[in-house]
Amino acid sequence: MSTLPLKRRKKDAPAHREPAASEILFPDICLFIVERRMGAARRGFLTALAQKKGFSVTPHFSDKVTHVVSEQNSYSEVLSWIEKQMEHKLQFGTESTPHILDISWFTESMSSGEPVTVESRHRLGFSGSTESFDNVTQIPSYACQRRTSLLHQNKEITDALEILALSASFQGSEARSLAFARSTSVLKCLPFKLQSLQDVKDLPWCGNHCKRVIQEILEDGVCMEVELVKDSEQYQSMKLLTSIFGVGVHTAKKWYQEGVRSLSDLNNNKRKLTAEQRAGLLHYKDLQQHVTREEAEWVEHLVVRALQSYVPDVQVTMTGGFRRGKEVGHDVDFLITHPKEEALNGLLKKAISWLESKGYLLYHHVKARSQSFSKSSTMDGHETCYSIVSLPNYYKHNWDCEAEETLKNLDNSEKETSHNWRAIRVDLVVAPYSEYSYALLGWTGSKHFERELRRYSFEVKKMSLSSHGLFDNEKKCLLPAASEEEVFAHLGLPFLLPFDRNA
Ligand code: UTP
Ligand code: MN
Repeated sequence: MSTLPLKRRKKDAPAHREPAASEILFPDICLFIVERRMGAARRGFLTALAQKKGFSVTPHFSDKVTHVVSEQNSYSEVLSWIEKQMEHKLQFGTESTPHILDISWFTESMSSGEPVTVESRHRLGFSGSTESFDNVTQIPSYACQRRTSLLHQNKEITDALEILALSASFQGSEARSLAFARSTSVLKCLPFKLQSLQDVKDLPWCGNHCKRVIQEILEDGVCMEVELVKDSEQYQSMKLLTSIFGVGVHTAKKWYQEGVRSLSDLNNNKRKLTAEQRAGLLHYKDLQQHVTREEAEWVEHLVVRALQSYVPDVQVTMTGGFRRGKEVGHDVDFLITHPKEEALNGLLKKAISWLESKGYLLYHHVKARSQSFSKSSTMDGHETCYSIVSLPNYYKHNWDCEAEETLKNLDNSEKETSHNWRAIRVDLVVAPYSEYSYALLGWTGSKHFERELRRYSFEVKKMSLSSHGLFDNEKKCLLPAASEEEVFAHLGLPFLLPFDRNA
């Protein structure tokens, strides 16, 4: 590795980040966003969003504040948290300012582009309840109608149900798998810890099977069916095989039926593997490790550099789980666009060559933009590069051409043995500007959220949603959208921030 003085990794923001607008459109309003339970990152995100929309947001509580916004806190929790920060006691009445509000007021205001009137449903009650629903019968049926943040209080139960969902999909029973996914998703949005079966009596999608699982976990701490599934050879082998890049349930099932049980069975076998699967096996260990946000940001910087060498004002957005606020992921997803659609012609190929010439690409294949999809199709056909990128271990300390030379001059087998890098899965998706909002919504996920959004569009609105657009099946027309907010508005749904799409 280079011994020359090393440059610090550039911290400049990628091209897509807009500066926070300083123009204040609502001078009578001053927001204070409570960090408690929300975290600094989300608070920062919400602050920037509000400022962009012309709201004034103060980082410190003072008597200027008119609206206090918090998430998953009760009225008394907010009060005592502010009191702690202020080091003195506060006295607010429900009707006096500042309003002590749930995040729903904030999201509705951002979505309307102006402060919406404070209604009693926005206010946190005096009771100290942390529940955002008065009772569970109010929980809407489609996941895209509910806020689902990353953290929730019933993880033991949702983990168990997710195992049953996965096991059902391994057995080819998509309907059963979906049923478990829906009940899991409902439990993820509950603002309280389940205490008894009574709590799920009126929940949507919680059928008898789901209730049995919940009851056993509440009473015994484990569910026997789930334990048996986890111990079964079929579940373990299928989980192992489907965790290889390029191996789906169909292939894994075929291999399992042919007697494959482990990775060495695959390596020893004279089985014909696709190039993707060979790369998946070669980098198996690395790809099993979580990608951290820091690593994802490094990859973002690299991808932006590659693309900007050809189109300096290209827009690159990190999507997938990281956009939803996850701190780790299984890969890093990027969406690429440009207001001039010609600028995108051939850009992905050029960026790939750039990455390849510098030794960053361990594997890639490109799916060309599908020419044959109809307006009403829900299939996604964007030009996409599925790749494996090598992340040098020295990425934390430097970013320089010398280091890049070192990487470039190693051939793949040397890279294998030198262990000064690790493999990361990266997806690059190119979307024409006119389809960008739909692509952004489609690639932000979660998968279940997307599935539910499409189901809602079709069943309730008679519209077909894809990552390309929204087609009104009755009026027979495409509905353009300049932002994600507009897509939600077309569907008559309250806007949900990416953080709330962890269904
Ligand atoms: P991912 O599979 O990358 O999931 O798909 P994720 O939510 O980012 O989670 P981890 O951390 O990587 O595991 C991201 C989104 O992209 C969409 C999916 O709907 C998902 O919401 N997607 C993915 C597609 O639209 N098409 C694809 O071929 C793959
Ligand atoms: Mn992802």
